[in-house]
Amino acid sequence: MQKKLIPEWISVGVLSERTGVSISALHFYERKGLIKSQRNVSNHRQYPKHVIRIVSLIQVAQRTGFSLEDILLELQELPNHTRITLEDWEALGIRWQGELDRKIVQLTELRDMMSDCIGCGCLSLERCKLLNPYDELGKRGAGPQRLTG
Ligand code: FES
Repeated sequence: MQKKLIPEWISVGVLSERTGVSISALHFYERKGLIKSQRNVSNHRQYPKHVIRIVSLIQVAQRTGFSLEDILLELQELPNHTRITLEDWEALGIRWQGELDRKIVQLTELRDMMSDCIGCGCLSLERCKLLNPYDELGKRGAGPQRLTG
């Protein structure tokens, strides 16, 4: 079976077909600055074919819990953030693995704290580790403290 060559520039429809990402999501990625297109003579968006890799990377990163903002920051860190090389992918993988390990530790702690709350429902700032982990609010000083911010 002959491998079908991808042209250097592809339409949003082809990009959607190749990646399985909806056209509206691709436009959203573009508005967020994650991918870039150019207009052809007919004023249609065209993407360089290497954008397929970027969209694939976005999908992988989102599945592992990274936000689009995080992904954009990572892409901007790459030497040439419009193209992803094997070395870039390896470096990203190492960074993301560290971040995932950190999240796993946090979630495990959260799960363990939650076991104290099951069947309790007190939501006490003094007692509930889920609501006020490590008495973070107490460290901010006496009196009422905000839960976020
Ligand atoms: S709800 Fe009571 S300890 Fe968390």
